[in-house]
Amino acid sequence: GRYGPEEPPPLGSAPKDSHTMRTDTPTVIGLDDYRPSDHLADTIHLDILLHPTATRIVAETAFRPNPAGRPGAPLVLDGDELRLCGIELDGQPLPAEAFEASPQGLTVLAPPQRPFRLRVVTEVDPTANTKLMGLYRSGGIYCTQCEADGFRRITYALDRPDVLSVYTTRIEADESEAPTLLGNGNPGEAGAIPGTGRHFAIWHDPFPKPGYLFAVVGGRLGKVSKPFTTMSGRPVEIAVHVEPGKEPRAEYALDALERSMRWDEEVFAREYDLDVFNVVAVSDFNMGAMENKGLNIFNDKYVLASPETATDSDYANIEAVIAHEYFHNWTGNRITCRDWFQLCLKEGLTVFRDQEFSSDQRSRAVHRIGEVRTLRARQFTEDAGPLAHPVRPNQFREINNFYTATVYEKGAEIVRMLKTLLGEADFAAGMTRFFETCDGTAATVEDFLDAFAAVSGRDLSDFARWYVQSGTPVVTVRTEYDPAQARYRIDLTQETPPTPGQAEKGPLVLPVALGLVSPTGAAIAADCADLRPDGVHVMAGSRASLIFENVRERPVPSLFRGFSAPVKLRLDLGDDDLLALLEHDSDPFNRWQAAQMVAMRLLVGQATSESGTPVEASLLRLALALGRVLVVESERDPAFAALLLSLPSETEIAQEIGSDVDPDAVHRAWLAARGTIGTVLAADLAAIRAATEPDGAYSPDAASAGRRALRNVALDLLASADPAFGEREADRQLAAAGNMTDRLAALAVLSRIPGDTRERALARFAEDFAGEPLVLDKWFGIQAAIPEPGTLDRIHGLTSHPAFSFTNPNRVRALVGSLALANPTQFHRADGAGYAFLADIVLMLNGSNPQVAARLLTAFSTWRTVEPGRRANAESQLKRIAREQNLSPDVSDIVARSLS
Ligand code: PHE
Ligand code: ZN
Repeated sequence: GRYGPEEPPPLGSAPKDSHTMRTDTPTVIGLDDYRPSDHLADTIHLDILLHPTATRIVAETAFRPNPAGRPGAPLVLDGDELRLCGIELDGQPLPAEAFEASPQGLTVLAPPQRPFRLRVVTEVDPTANTKLMGLYRSGGIYCTQCEADGFRRITYALDRPDVLSVYTTRIEADESEAPTLLGNGNPGEAGAIPGTGRHFAIWHDPFPKPGYLFAVVGGRLGKVSKPFTTMSGRPVEIAVHVEPGKEPRAEYALDALERSMRWDEEVFAREYDLDVFNVVAVSDFNMGAMENKGLNIFNDKYVLASPETATDSDYANIEAVIAHEYFHNWTGNRITCRDWFQLCLKEGLTVFRDQEFSSDQRSRAVHRIGEVRTLRARQFTEDAGPLAHPVRPNQFREINNFYTATVYEKGAEIVRMLKTLLGEADFAAGMTRFFETCDGTAATVEDFLDAFAAVSGRDLSDFARWYVQSGTPVVTVRTEYDPAQARYRIDLTQETPPTPGQAEKGPLVLPVALGLVSPTGAAIAADCADLRPDGVHVMAGSRASLIFENVRERPVPSLFRGFSAPVKLRLDLGDDDLLALLEHDSDPFNRWQAAQMVAMRLLVGQATSESGTPVEASLLRLALALGRVLVVESERDPAFAALLLSLPSETEIAQEIGSDVDPDAVHRAWLAARGTIGTVLAADLAAIRAATEPDGAYSPDAASAGRRALRNVALDLLASADPAFGEREADRQLAAAGNMTDRLAALAVLSRIPGDTRERALARFAEDFAGEPLVLDKWFGIQAAIPEPGTLDRIHGLTSHPAFSFTNPNRVRALVGSLALANPTQFHRADGAGYAFLADIVLMLNGSNPQVAARLLTAFSTWRTVEPGRRANAESQLKRIAREQNLSPDVSDIVARSLS
């Protein structure tokens, strides 16, 4: 921090009373402790004088007592590492005995019982701000990050999401250093300050907002822009600002923004509300992007793209994140959160909206499978470990640790289930009601659900359990066919295993979308009294029985079509039935799911038996069925075909095994299965490669991307079957590749084939892309994921590569994050060296960037599921971290929960 013991105290008096001070021991904040603020802040005028090491912020706030607060309460403002330079109340300097101040807060002891203006001057050092919260510099650009509680690192404030203010911001800077000055809202007066080399710009945001949505940017930036006319005919200028020279790489983001704006008008009738919409890309950013009102700030990896530097999945991610942040304008900004426990109100809902957008822009089935893979890999893992928490948590010590897969992805699944439950029409009406009744407010999950209850006349109180109960429900299915009665019966039971702090679980409302499939491919009409006409059964209790009449042949059940509820399914189906679903189900998600289940069963068998169970026959049947399906699918929907060929990941296999996992055995099983599939399908895969040779210019559209995905999965499987062939073919592809997708896919294949070819390819890639940090992140990531004992040394070496830096979160995630999350055998090394390495990095980043440190540390959350030797090693590293002095609240919270 700025104020070490050797430094003078800030202006103002020394703290007299500790009740306003934040201590280093993180305190637990509870949902039930909510009470309205004692004061409101109607307007805030900021004057920000940008300077690399001493930026001054003059904040003039119009406060008044909150009628809903405690009369006569002191005005308690939040601060974080602030230096106070001056304070006036209604134009008069405030005497020292009238307030208490520290870098962590400011209290006006007896504020007037009427509206008053407080003028506070603070000073911050943006260059020294390595936490990347508040005002900081990234590559010479001044930018801010205020969610969740960064605004208090700029000025003393009521930094809570339910205090909404109208902001006017004047920004001043050296004209040469920061020719572009951006703020929230609409641009106002701007100009030079004669004789000083400085200039200013004034921005006014008419929409009241909490401090976490505040932002300013200053720097030398290039831009791409275009006019947009909203559905009611209002003109808007939309723009993307990037490092000068990178403008062509911002075109795709601009295009995605335009499509997002149009889509929100067409699908949700939401119109943009300011004269300008600005997106700024910065290279140092803790998260993906931020929805500041009218001024979204992005991690540059979610903005910059060219065929030479970005992969198809980069393009898809850019489209999704641009949409996500734009959609927050209504779900997050116009309607914000009452408190941080309601985070899913904006995040889960906005993820749902961006998923729907991407599904409309691309193949819905393919997108759904991608969503579910992410959910299972990240959220199911979280739910199964010590960090499990409800979508709406009821307590936290550090809110930054709750931007999780549970809040985001499971939060989106809840909204999706609500839509399935209510149907299109009532869901749409409920959304409209929510927008109308909550616009301009800081709302709660209850407000959201009330809107749907009101329009549908339904009682959603049972459904609401999804928000408060953690853990992944397990649904077990038993089926019975009675040919004499032509009757088929499905029995479902649900159970949610206990999670930390929640031993008892109740049943959840599950929309079960289902149908019956004949083993020979014919559709079977579902004659069942408990099934809605749209094929959904709503299961509300812990068990349900469905009886189907007039079933003339033994059917195969297709359950949770489209993954209609985020559950784990235990299904008593044999391989033949599953393969029938793969070949004949009308639901593409369940076709994919069926193949995954067959594969998972044999992978788990292989990975957990000492001798190696005889899974060859089952594997062969799966490979042959895939081969049959591919004939049609590789033409019809290549992206879908590519997904059919992708086995469950090692992470998913480990999760399925659940305890005493040996990551090496999982890896061997995974390799062997891929090798067999590659061998059996060699001719088909070669034909696919021949048929998908790139022709002509690169286009990032979904159809072209699908062909590349299929072609590259084929290469990967062929290389698993025959590494010598794979090495030659990948090397050839690498030399010929005209785009980053094909290049990176080839490099990834080569990276798993030890030898000179690999080392030469890696060296060549680094030369070709020297000076391209985002591309070198891919290069760091591929090397960190090599499943070989030499990898840890390689990573050590790469930490001193000139392109690597521990201060840039993207670099750290690329190198260290890939080891921890994409390289199970080397992170979970039996000798504990992987754990020790991660612990070292976490401790190193604990002081400089606690958010990034805490995020990396969550990789330990599966530690109790590995076999005893590894478990002991992981535990000793966690304990080593826990013993450390001066742990940040972020790291201390994760380590404490991981060990509990
Ligand atoms: N609110 C951002 C988003 O989802 C995420 C974020 C959180 C960014 C906290 C920065 C800090 O879209
Ligand atoms: Zn978001």
